[in-house]
Amino acid sequence: MNIRPARVEDEMGMQACNLQNLPENYTMKYYLYHGLTWPGLSYVAEDHKGRIVGYILAKMEEDVPEDESPHGHVTSISVLRSYRRLGLAKKLMVQSQEAMSAIYGAAYVSLHVRKSNRAALGLYRDTLGFTVKDIEKGYYADGEDAYAMKLMLSSR
Ligand code: ACO
Repeated sequence: MNIRPARVEDEMGMQACNLQNLPENYTMKYYLYHGLTWPGLSYVAEDHKGRIVGYILAKMEEDVPEDESPHGHVTSISVLRSYRRLGLAKKLMVQSQEAMSAIYGAAYVSLHVRKSNRAALGLYRDTLGFTVKDIEKGYYADGEDAYAMKLMLSSR
């Protein structure tokens, strides 16, 4: 399995992976916006045939007030079912976090996750060290609450 920065031609594969794994889906325009605006923050995991089996779609937060530090945000991450528990999501997260800090000077990274998403919470809280900053009531389209989570990034 290979982890590498996402390229424009990967976006169909990333979208296909997202559609299989999550109810939160995005237009191709939104994938392109991420790739063109913040090159270096989104990554893919590919199998030996070059098929995309996981991705992280990430960005820098926009419209940050001048007195606040720049910070990254994970829009979406997922790994195809048969490739889970191999450490791919952890690697995708770490690569993106390093790029947020090194390229854009991000002080921290944020994300939203469903309160019921045990696997993702295990990844964020237990493996990567994120903390819950807030609970956003009814954040998801079906009414489920989100944990707003945050991880400070070490400066280099
Ligand atoms: N139960 C509990 N903890 C888990 C689980 C699980 N099912 N899966 C992963 N973890 C935790 C463990 O601590 C694991 O470390 P370990 O294997 O040494 O115990 C750690 O996360 C790292 O696991 P990875 O192998 O890197 O994670 P994986 O590649 O399997 O991907 C993911 C995890 C992305 C959450 C995957 O289960 C998935 O695609 N789920 C469906 C989509 C999804 O929920 N995406 C996140 C939505 S939130 C957002 O996008 C911002």
